[in-house]
This record gives sequence, structure tokens and C-alpha cells, in this order.
Amino acid sequence: MICSNKILVVDDEENILISLSSILEDEGYTVKTSSDAETALKMLEKEEFDVALLDIWLPKMDGLKLFEIMKEQKREEEVIFISGHGSIEQAVKATKIGAFDFLEKPLSLERVVVAVKNASQKKELVEKEKFFKSELKSDVELVGESPAMKELKKQISIIAPSDGRVLIYGENGTGKELVARSIHQLSNRSNEPFIEVNCAAIPSELIESELFGHRKGSFTGAIENKKGKFLLANKGTLFLDEIGDMSLMTQAKVLRALEEQKIEPVGASEQIKVDVRVIAATNKDIEKEISEGRFRADLFYRLNVIFIKLPPLRERNGDISLLFEYYLDYYSKKYKKEKKRLTESAINALYECPWNGNVRELKNLAERVIIMYEGTEILEEDLFYKPFSEKKSSDNIYSGTLKEARKSFERDYILKVLNQTGGNIAQTAEILGIERRHLYRKLSALKIR
Ligand SMILES: Nc1ncnc2c1ncn2[C@@H]1O[C@H](COP(=O)(O)OP(=O)(O)OP(=O)(O)O)[C@@H](O)[C@H]1O
Ligand SMILES: [Mg+2]
Repeated sequence: MICSNKILVVDDEENILISLSSILEDEGYTVKTSSDAETALKMLEKEEFDVALLDIWLPKMDGLKLFEIMKEQKREEEVIFISGHGSIEQAVKATKIGAFDFLEKPLSLERVVVAVKNASQKKELVEKEKFFKSELKSDVELVGESPAMKELKKQISIIAPSDGRVLIYGENGTGKELVARSIHQLSNRSNEPFIEVNCAAIPSELIESELFGHRKGSFTGAIENKKGKFLLANKGTLFLDEIGDMSLMTQAKVLRALEEQKIEPVGASEQIKVDVRVIAATNKDIEKEISEGRFRADLFYRLNVIFIKLPPLRERNGDISLLFEYYLDYYSKKYKKEKKRLTESAINALYECPWNGNVRELKNLAERVIIMYEGTEILEEDLFYKPFSEKKSSDNIYSGTLKEARKSFERDYILKVLNQTGGNIAQTAEILGIERRHLYRKLSALKIR
């Protein structure tokens, strides 16, 4: 049974703890119990639950006080009170200040099951909404009529409804993420989350906690319990981007998670079942990585159930003007500008470009053109205007510290190189002579993108 929902029951009556655990476990929940509020608080420090059933009357601290503390700590468990004869009024009040529901003693086991089910569904909904907001579906469609793109769209429509793992290979900017999102949107999991992890952007010492979550106190800096991306993607799709940059140690753990469909948060003693479809992407030749000992063959075979190779833009010339016009249209709407048309020579110039940064480079160019030019006709020379060769004002007042100046120069320089490579991270890192991972850190520190 796939159910990762965890329930905490706090009641001082031993027989209630026993009967609630057994019926909830029969329903597939993981249940933990405590007979007093103090122990419950300690348990809550170590792990997160989905629903907490709290008796109102407890030996020292009562259930209402425990609820108050949980609220102060901004805990996210849905709370259901269990009330005896004398405490119904308090239970009603508690629901007014945020408890999900209350159950009267003697407990009707049927009512318990329904209330817990409703509460855990609400909890799931709240979490999903939170993530849908940040991981909102992309508003761009897969554009292209070249034979390669037609074939790709056909492949996606066949692959999507299956639950098969997918490995996407392609140069930077060829649309790997867009394809992963399209597969998710066309799958039976489309109403569930699509969660992305960029394996190259996360420092290796943090990736395990990012993927599997951690318990508070399991390492320095783990000040709170954290859910990992595998769990956040439960029932949905997990997109492991730049999989070729994952360390061998992390690869071993991901392999285990895929084999067992279970994860173990850092510092936790138990495993959690997850139901996740994994789509992985890379711009590295994974078979070469395997032969050179940097990628585990067994993980590759696990991920590579369905293989998609995205052709670089230069190999699907037919799509260049179509894509460019699509993005001119897209950005003119976005920036509320007049629609623009390309002259014949401008179109020809587009075909001459090597497009090392693939669709991303072309998309950036369309955006720049829409922002920079007011007219309705775009000439060849408009396309290749260099945005960073602006005149430098000679009457600048130099007032910043050396550190600020260095940072500003660094930011400017990185932007120029990024612009030159059409946003290609691998190439930019190579030109700058730094590791990709290092570049990602710099981009985020300098607030680029
Ligand atoms: N066929 C396409 N139609 C429309 N837009 C596309 C297409 N392919 C790519 N794009 C757009 O180009 C940009 C780059 O695509 P995406 O991020 O999916 O590429 P990627 O292969 O994941 O790149 P990277 O390797 O750099 O992460 C995105 O904004 C995406 O929407
Ligand atoms: Mg990508």
C-alpha cells in the first residue's frame, strides 16, 4: 500500500493508543504514540507528522497547551482533538482557532478513520498548493515542425502516460527541462507536483539532504526538519537535472531509493515509502562517463528505461525562424509591445548563426530585440547589436569600496561571457576557468538570473 502519511497519537489511556494505532496502521498510515505532551514535543522535534491526534486531558501539560506550542512553532501537522465528556466545549473552541476537527470519547473508530483521512488529504493539498505556486507549469509550449521535433512530440505523447523512467540527453538550451515538464503534464501525474533538482547547482555535501530530507540536528546547520525533493514529488514527477554531475556516493543512494521506492532522510532511523516518477537529464555523454568511472552503470540502466536525445538547433534548421517568430510574439505580448516582422535578410542571418546556446540563445535574442527596438521591422543589424558595449560614462563618481568594485566588475564580466555563449553554463564556466558548480554559486551570489 502506498501511503507515506504519518500520524502522531497522544493520549494517556494505553488502550486508546493501542486501538487507534492498530486501526490506522490497517489503513496504511505510519503511527507513533505518546502518553504525555512532553514526550510528544520531543518526538515532534525529531520528525514531522501529517496529522496529530491529541487528547485534551493529559497528565501534566494538556493537549490544548501542546497545540498552542505547536502553533507557536509553526508546525504544519493537522490537529484533531480527542475529548472526553467534560472537554467538548474546549474542543469546539480549538477548532475555531485552527484545529482540524475533534472526536468525542467513546471513540467511534469509523469516525476516527474518516477524520484522519480528511485531515491528511487537507495536509497534502496545502503542501501541493505551496509547491505548485513555485513550480508552476511553464507557460511555453514545445514549438517546432522539423521532422525531429515532430518525432519528439509523438514520442512524448506515447511515453507520458506510462510510468517509465526517462533519460533526456541534449546540449545546453535544447529544451530538456521543457520536455520533462511536457511529459509530466501529459502524464497521469499531471495534477501532482513536478519537482526539479539541479544536481550541479547543489554543493555535494548538501545534496543528500536536498534529495532525501533531514532530521533536525542531524548535522551542523540542520536547524529544522526538512522534507527532501523525493518526498515533495510523491505521486508526481521528480526531474533530476544535470544528473552527470552527481557524485558517486550520491548516485549510490539515488540508486537505492529507485530500487526500493523508499527513502531515508539524513539522521532518520526509518524509511519512507515514495511513489515518484523520475525523469533525468544530462548534457554529458553518460556512456563515456561510465567508461571513465564517473557514473555508475547500474544507475544508468535504472534511469535509462526510455531515452530521448534532443538534437541541437543547428541540426533542425527548419525550426529556427518558427521558434524566433514564436518568441517575438511571446515577448511582444509580455512587454505589451507592437508585433515585429523580420526582413528577409534578418531571417537569412538567423540561419547563419551557429546557435551554440541552442533555443535558449535564440529565445534571449528575441527578447532583446523586442525590448530594444521600437519599429515593426527588424533588420539584420538589429539582431547582432551588442548590449554590453554601451558607452561608459566618463563622469562617473567613484565612491564604492574596492570590494564593491570587484563585485561589480565580476558581475559585468560574467554577464558578458554568458551573453556571448547564449547562456550556456558549461561554456561560460570553461571560458571563466572555473567549475560549473562554482559558477552556479557565483550566479546566485551575484543575483544573476
Ligand atoms: N522546442 C521548444 N519550443 C519552445 N521553447 C523552447 C523549445 N526548446 C527550448 N525552449 C526554451 O528554451 C529555453 C531553454 O530550454 P530548457 O531550459 O528546457 O533547456 P535545457 O536543455 O534544460 O538547458 P540546460 O542544459 O542549459 O539546462 C527555455 O526557456 C525553453 O522554454
Ligand atoms: Mg535545463
